[in-house]
Amino acid sequence: MRSALVTGASGGIGAAIAAALHEEGFALTLVGRDHAKLDAVAMSIGGSAVHTIAGSLAEESFLDEVVAFHTDRHGALDLLVNNAGIAGNRAVADITAEFLDAQLAVNIRAVVLLTAKCQPLLREAVRQHGWAQIVNTASNAGKRGEATLSSYSATKAAVVGFTESLHDELATSGIKATAICPGLVDTAMADVYRDSIEASTMITPRDVAEVVRMTTRLSAACILPEVVLLRPTEWLQPEEVRSPG
Ligand SMILES: NC(=O)c1ccc[n+]([C@@H]2O[C@H](COP(=O)([O-])OP(=O)(O)OC[C@H]3O[C@@H](n4cnc5c(N)ncnc54)[C@H](OP(=O)(O)O)[C@@H]3O)[C@@H](O)[C@H]2O)c1
Repeated sequence: MRSALVTGASGGIGAAIAAALHEEGFALTLVGRDHAKLDAVAMSIGGSAVHTIAGSLAEESFLDEVVAFHTDRHGALDLLVNNAGIAGNRAVADITAEFLDAQLAVNIRAVVLLTAKCQPLLREAVRQHGWAQIVNTASNAGKRGEATLSSYSATKAAVVGFTESLHDELATSGIKATAICPGLVDTAMADVYRDSIEASTMITPRDVAEVVRMTTRLSAACILPEVVLLRPTEWLQPEEVRSPG
């Protein structure tokens, strides 16, 4: 049985990714801060091959706990999904060290360190099954910086750069890397936009999960380095181009 480790699995995009991977037959380690929410996700997925571990990815000792937890149960890791993230809108003049450090710790430091610590597990999966995968949830904000999201955009651009580097360094050893860059997704993270944007016009968590599912179905010879998911009004056409006058 292949196994996957999904961070930020206690809700939103991560919970949808976990459900899709369970449907694909993966055994799962689900990681988040909130034990009750993680257990609710595990219950809704069902099955005995779903385990949860709660703690903060900002703590390096917790990253070691997560790797040991997965190692004890599976001994190899076919798919690492670095999905946990925190956002927050703030004008650049109002950014504090505390605000910035919190984003850096979860959005990029934990992604790099967990990926590093999972290398032996991923290599074991390559030995057993021929290949392994890392999927990083970046953001459309990492492809184009956004006003009031400057530090978040910077962390997500870092995830895009890190994923490109993983591809360059690991692809020939059988470990594929993919960055997913969604626009606005209908999760708790989108709550600040609900007054101005209809939920029905947002990307769904399931949309993102379907991309992850698809990457698991590609042949060993095929790598998807980056996927950008957009709403019709995002990225390609600024407002004044879409609605002249
Ligand atoms: N929603 C969007 O519009 C959007 C668009 C593009 C990219 N993204 C990215 O997609 C990913 C998932 O976000 P989402 O929209 O699903 O948001 P969400 O519903 O707020 O979920 C965020 C997840 O990250 C976990 N998390 C946050 N800080 C953590 C920490 N210190 N340690 C461990 N886990 C932590 C949360 O765990 P707890 O709930 O247990 O605290 C939760 O499971 C993020 O990387 C986000 O940046 C989101």
